[in-house]
Amino acid sequence: MDNRPIGVFDSGLGGLTVVKSIIDNLPNEDIIYLGDTARVPYGGRSHEMLTSFVHSDFAFLLSKEVKAIVIACNTADSQTRTVMEKYYNIPIVGVVEPAGKQAAEYTKTNEIGIIGTSSTVESNAYPNIIKKYNPDVKVIQVACPLLAPLVENEKTSKDDIVLRKVLSEYLMSFQNTNIDTLILGCTHYPLIRDAIAEFLPDVRLISSGFASTHTLIDLLDNNNLRNGMSHPGRIKYYVTDAPEKFAHSAEMFLSMPISKVELVKI
Ligand code: DGL
Repeated sequence: MDNRPIGVFDSGLGGLTVVKSIIDNLPNEDIIYLGDTARVPYGGRSHEMLTSFVHSDFAFLLSKEVKAIVIACNTADSQTRTVMEKYYNIPIVGVVEPAGKQAAEYTKTNEIGIIGTSSTVESNAYPNIIKKYNPDVKVIQVACPLLAPLVENEKTSKDDIVLRKVLSEYLMSFQNTNIDTLILGCTHYPLIRDAIAEFLPDVRLISSGFASTHTLIDLLDNNNLRNGMSHPGRIKYYVTDAPEKFAHSAEMFLSMPISKVELVKI
């Protein structure tokens, strides 16, 4: 047993889709959430810049004495995971490998689509992971740089005309393909899942964040790290800018009241 909290971070709201999944599946765990809202979006940043951001995210979470860190951001995971694993001696769970594995095992047509930020697509992390599990798969990646900013601005309704216009442009790339699986390769995208599903009704959508919770459960179990308390876990939220705006959006997305959001410098 280990009653220390789990650290989870993202550039902003997207990681809350991972928090939601952790609450549902590991209800007794305490969570420290960091949203780096001063530097969102991460999605178009260089490898060097992302490495420096993620070092500061790790340093903050480690200062809160977390027992494991969930990189609830595909951009950070795909660009910096290898560096972080070498540098820090703490269990790390990412989002790319669990989602890639799930998609590789599910596809029947052997064609998988991926949507993500420009930095995630440029890293080629998804095609590399998918080919490790299923070398015969054809992977079609589409960078969608406008989607995370739209989510951050609460443009998430499937009837929102701006969102629909942007999605129709991006998802056109899958029109003449045979994909039966689409990885939502950014943790912001489950918040616009309904809108995406309307464009691709027969395609299975895989949320990178939800897939990673199973990896987290295995990690806690295999290392005897589960929280032994019987009461519901406590969640603390920290952001690097605009705590009120974050709190408002977070309550909407999580459909529950959240505790105070604290502003921090990292
Ligand atoms: N939610 C993040 C991801 O999964 C980052 C989005 C962004 O900040 O651009 O990639």
